[in-house]
Amino acid sequence: MDLISLNNVSKFYNGKHIKALNNITLSISKGEFVSIVGPSGSGKSTLLNMMSGLDKPSEGDVIFKDQKNISNRSWREIRSMNIGFVFQKFNLLPTFTALENVEIPMFGVINNPKKRRSKATELLDQLGLKNRMHHYQNELSGGEQQRVAIARSLANDPDIIFADEPTGNLDSVTSESIIKLLTDIHKQLNMALVIVTHNENISKLSNRIIKILDGKIVTESTGK
Ligand SMILES: Nc1ncnc2c1ncn2[C@@H]1O[C@H](COP(=O)(O)OP(=O)(O)OP(=O)(O)O)[C@@H](O)[C@H]1O
Ligand SMILES: [Mg+2]
Repeated sequence: MDLISLNNVSKFYNGKHIKALNNITLSISKGEFVSIVGPSGSGKSTLLNMMSGLDKPSEGDVIFKDQKNISNRSWREIRSMNIGFVFQKFNLLPTFTALENVEIPMFGVINNPKKRRSKATELLDQLGLKNRMHHYQNELSGGEQQRVAIARSLANDPDIIFADEPTGNLDSVTSESIIKLLTDIHKQLNMALVIVTHNENISKLSNRIIKILDGKIVTESTGK
């Protein structure tokens, strides 16, 4: 079953001056692990932002689960559509604790505050952050911040997690542990995982590698 389909998606910036994505058609299946690779400026982040509804295409459609065109949805709707995000710079809100950061995507989805809290607590506990629940971003290491961000991405039981260079700001040992976490979660929860990465150790683990150059898909290959 297709989870996300892009049909002839293009993205232009500055009028039509910059073609960041040029007529992309692809689908992500349920439970699939896909990596997106390509040189800097090739359009990887733009592609991820289109797939995840973070940004809207200039042309074409993005269809979620065969029905919802995510291009015209509000943030709140997208959140409740079971999509998780992990970013290179972690993107935690600095004035909120780890626990509160994990609760944020649940607003408007889980109405009972106690349920939000218990779910966030459980997720942080599972990610080994039991003793960091009430810490703020500036009191957490990079690896800890990324684990909070992963807990946050799991808040609404996503069918798919999008990660844009999730280990780009981490040392190699911490990167490995973060990748192991993401791939374990992918396997255990049968959750689709789409990772933008420069790291071959990550892409070789995936079911499919999409290589992009100048906003176009140049090759799709099987990882393992
Ligand atoms: N908001 C924007 N305004 C104008 N141009 C943009 C904008 N965002 C991206 N671009 C351009 O679109 C192209 C693709 O950018 P994108 O960020 O998707 O590349 P990337 O493959 O993720 O690169 P990197 O590996 O450096 O993160 C680049 O030429 C970039 O300069
Ligand atoms: Mg990028």
